[in-house]
Amino acid sequence: MKPDKPIYVTKPSLPPLEEFVPYLQQIWHSKILTNGGSFHQQLEQALCDYLGVKHIALVTNGTIALVTALQALCITGEVITTPYSFVATAHSLLWNGLKPVFVDVDPVTLNLDPDKIEAAITPQTTAIMPVHCYGHPCDVGRIQKIADTYALKVIYDAAHAFGVQCHGGSVLNHGDLSVLSFHATKVFNTFEGGAIICPDAKTKQRIDHLKNFGYVDEVTVVAPGINGKMSEFNAALGLLQLKGIDEALKKRQAIDAYYRKELARVKGIHCLSDVGETVANYSYFPILVRPEYPLSRDALFHKLQDNGIYARRYFYPLISDFPMYRGLASAAQSNLPVARKAASEVICLPIYPDLSIEQVDGILGVIVGNVGA
Ligand SMILES: Cc1ncc(COP(=O)(O)O)c(C=O)c1O
Repeated sequence: MKPDKPIYVTKPSLPPLEEFVPYLQQIWHSKILTNGGSFHQQLEQALCDYLGVKHIALVTNGTIALVTALQALCITGEVITTPYSFVATAHSLLWNGLKPVFVDVDPVTLNLDPDKIEAAITPQTTAIMPVHCYGHPCDVGRIQKIADTYALKVIYDAAHAFGVQCHGGSVLNHGDLSVLSFHATKVFNTFEGGAIICPDAKTKQRIDHLKNFGYVDEVTVVAPGINGKMSEFNAALGLLQLKGIDEALKKRQAIDAYYRKELARVKGIHCLSDVGETVANYSYFPILVRPEYPLSRDALFHKLQDNGIYARRYFYPLISDFPMYRGLASAAQSNLPVARKAASEVICLPIYPDLSIEQVDGILGVIVGNVGA
C-alpha cells in the first residue's frame, strides 16, 4: 500500500521545540549572535569530549570546512581523491585552484583503493583527500603509509563519519585533518554546520584565523581568510542535539539490522557491510542492485518512487562525470571501473531515527516485489 506521506531517504532529527527556547532566550539576552560566542565554545568542547578528539574548529558547513582545511595546510598542485562521493569533495579542490586526480575505489568498501593510489602520484601531488563513504572507515593505515612515503598530507572528508570509531578510537583522529558536515541530512545536524578536527592547538589556531577573514586581532590579518564562523544559533542547536544523539544512533542501528535481515534472502540485492568499525553510525543504507535481481537499478528506483518512497542514488553520477571534471585524464571511464559499476548499481534506502518498522516493511515490500506495479 502506498504510504499516506512520502518517505524520503532521510528526515532531519530535531529536539522538541520547547527545549530550544531557553537557548534562544539566552542569545536574545546576550545579543551575541556569532564570532566565537559562548555556545560556540561550549559546543567545541562538548564535541571533543563526545567524539574523542583533541581539537575542533566549528565552521558554517562541511564545504567551507574542506576549503579551509586545504588552505590551512597550504596544499598546492594535485590532490588524489575519489570520484565516488558528493560533489563538494572535489569542488573544494577547484575552489583552491587545485587539480583533482581521481583514483578508483575498493569494490568492498567503495572507499579510495590504497592499491591504486601510488600509480597516480606525480611530482605535483601534495595531498590525498579520501572520503569515509557512508561512514565506513577508509584503510587509514595504508593511506598513511603511502602519505608518509611520499611526504603527502591527508585530509579526510569525514562528512558521513560522525561518531564512527575504529581500532584505536575515533576515525577522525587519522590523517592531518578531518572534516565533518552537520548538514540537515546528516546523523548529527545543526541545521547547517561543519567542523575541522585538528591534531594540535597550533593548527586549530590557524584554522580559527582562516575562518574569521584571517584576523588575529583587531588590526592584524595574516591570511586571505573567509567568513566560515558557525553562528550561536547553530552552535546552541548542536548542544541540544548532542543530548539525543545516542538514542538516534540506536534507532538507526535497529533499522539497519532489520533491513539486513530481511534483504539477506533477496537474490540480486547486496547490502554494503561494515568494514571493521568498532562503532558504526548507520548514516546511510546503500544497496547494490545486481543482475540477478529481476529489475534494473533504475527500474527499482522508479518503482520505489511510484510507491511514495524517495530513495536516492548516492553516488550517481560520479563526480568525474560532471562537466567541470570530465576533461581530466583521471576521469576516463577506463580509470574508474569499480566506481562506475557501483554508481550504476547503488540505491540508498531511507534510514532515519523516526522511520517506523511498518514503514521499513512497506519499503521492503516494494523491493521484494509483492507491492506496486
Ligand atoms: C561526502 C561529503 N562531503 C562534503 C559534503 C558537504 O557538506 P555540507 O553540505 O555541510 O557543505 C557532503 C554533504 O553535504 C558530503 O556528503
